[in-house]
Amino acid sequence: MSTTEDLATELVEIATTAAIQAGALLAEMAPRRLDLRAMASAKSSITDLVTAADIDSEAAVLEIVLGARPDDAIMAEEGSSRPGTSSVTWVIDPLDGTTNFVYGYGEFAVSIAAKVDDVVVAGVVHNPIAKETFAATLGGGATRNGQAMTPSDPSSLASSLVGTGFGYLSEARADQARILPYLVPAIRDIRRGGCASLDCCGVGAGRLDGYFEAGLKPWDFAAGLLVATEAGCGSRSLENFPGRSTTLVIASSDILDSLVNLLIECDAKGRLEGH
Ligand code: IPD
Ligand code: CA
Repeated sequence: MSTTEDLATELVEIATTAAIQAGALLAEMAPRRLDLRAMASAKSSITDLVTAADIDSEAAVLEIVLGARPDDAIMAEEGSSRPGTSSVTWVIDPLDGTTNFVYGYGEFAVSIAAKVDDVVVAGVVHNPIAKETFAATLGGGATRNGQAMTPSDPSSLASSLVGTGFGYLSEARADQARILPYLVPAIRDIRRGGCASLDCCGVGAGRLDGYFEAGLKPWDFAAGLLVATEAGCGSRSLENFPGRSTTLVIASSDILDSLVNLLIECDAKGRLEGH
């Protein structure tokens, strides 16, 4: 019987192998992204693409994960979810940043987290183009290519670079955008990276001072959130905000409270002034 720590170590090793393998497949397919764009079919809305690359990458991840641990449950973006008989559930985004991938613009990643009894204990986010692997275990710290990570140390919100993202449904996007006219003047600048898992890791690595996004799915953030918090960042989940969604906020601990308060204030102003 292994301890939780041993189990987390086993799971992060499997996740790393699977993410690197699936990432190599994506990197091979990336030059064909324009064909893939033509072939892409819409998922939840016309802006929500799914490609052959998403499907093939998911199959590659599952082959390794279930090859190593056949009794575990799977929750995966492209539909391979299934119950298991062990205490472990894998939360998989086989291609996070699909829109970036098909347009050849910006970054994409394979994101794999493992939960034990509903607690995320291991997470890996792998960017095959930059050859960067972010990994974390619960209580065991976070690494980027095997090296410890340090979040930024911003002196104020006004000097903070903040990432965000938008969902695929147009009503949800309107709610999300309402904040922006008030937020943008109050911070250094905003970034929309197009890959939530890498945005989370970016805060852990000090490339962003903060990140927030409403309406994320578990596979978008499970691994990246563990990487960021194990790197030393703070996080908050704001329920029913904006509208009926949940917003994940991750930031350098120095600015987490003030960023949360600013987001709530900006949303209230947006609603009042009809944006
Ligand atoms: C999307 C990306 C994007 C975020 C969206 C996600 P996908 O995931 O992470 O940055 O803003 O909310 O759905 O569709 O590329 O796997
Ligand atoms: Ca995703």
